[in-house]
Amino acid sequence: MTPKIQADRRPTLLLIGANGQVGWELRRTLASVGEVIAASLEGEYGPTIDLMDPQALARLIEDSRPDALINAAAYTAVDKAERDRATAQRVNAEAVGEMGALLAERGTPIIHYSTDFVFSGTLGRPYTEDDQPDPLNVYGETKLDGERALRDSGARALIFRTSWVYGARGQNFLLTMRRLFQEREELRVVDDQIGSPTWSRMLAEVTAQVLYRVLSGDLDLDRIGGLYHLTGSGQISWYGFAQAILEATGARTRLIPIPSSEYQAPARRPAFSVLDNTRFEETFGLRMPDWRLSLAQCLEEL
Ligand SMILES: NC(=O)c1ccc[n+]([C@@H]2O[C@H](COP(=O)([O-])OP(=O)(O)OC[C@H]3O[C@@H](n4cnc5c(N)ncnc54)[C@H](OP(=O)(O)O)[C@@H]3O)[C@@H](O)[C@H]2O)c1
Repeated sequence: MTPKIQADRRPTLLLIGANGQVGWELRRTLASVGEVIAASLEGEYGPTIDLMDPQALARLIEDSRPDALINAAAYTAVDKAERDRATAQRVNAEAVGEMGALLAERGTPIIHYSTDFVFSGTLGRPYTEDDQPDPLNVYGETKLDGERALRDSGARALIFRTSWVYGARGQNFLLTMRRLFQEREELRVVDDQIGSPTWSRMLAEVTAQVLYRVLSGDLDLDRIGGLYHLTGSGQISWYGFAQAILEATGARTRLIPIPSSEYQAPARRPAFSVLDNTRFEETFGLRMPDWRLSLAQCLEEL
């Protein structure tokens, strides 16, 4: 059973990757759950941490003595990973296993994120947690290794596989489209890859709610720990997503749907990587909104 945090003490939450899309949102949503130590590569909001350095990771965990660790750091440059496997493997897999081992010793819970790219996208229906992963690219392989390393570490862990993350900051499809709509009269967008856009804010809010219930003893990680699919509801192609952004922003760019074969990229990507969120919804009683609703809310904020 996860040790219950006493009511008179705010738990210490170690957030790793605080300057990423999801991490930046988590820094704020986790503040309602506990005292956040927000660690990142450049130390914008707290301690610096480079996951390439195992000793630095061990020191950070030792010094901060967290009641929970939330890992939002990852090597997410999907195309670059094709020629930089060693770095992606270190950040996405080895470091995650080390976090797990260090936390398992202490019985400290960890929340970690993984990706729809652990699947090839050939199944033809939404993937459940029981479906066999079969990644098409180095990024997906290293993220899958990270899931396995965390599971094998024996740590009390929740792994949330998410997809197509976008938000008001960072590098993502929404911000890229908004920029290109200013620059281009015509834009070609892939129409044969289907997935579920996920707003970084919504992911961070749901994570905070789940963590609160874990730390208050309402949810027992020994019983419900493990892997969950957690994405925005609904599905769409990149082209459809671009069109929704175009309509919402009133831009005038002409969008042209193209097949993936016309968009050359170093890493192969799954054609249909929609994830089935049922296990998450039934376990936690929470449901992510439809991607259109989240997109509208995110755009309102922008
Ligand atoms: N983005 C997506 O579409 C997507 C889809 C599915 C799953 N996910 C998963 O969701 C989680 C959050 O992703 P995100 O979209 O927030 O990614 P992100 O915006 O790229 O953030 C990842 C963060 O990790 C940091 N990082 C990279 N290498 C590091 C290192 N050696 N040491 C410490 N920090 C390091 C990055 O720092 P720098 O920016 O300074 O490099 C960045 O701040 C990840 O586990 C990712 O795999 C993302």
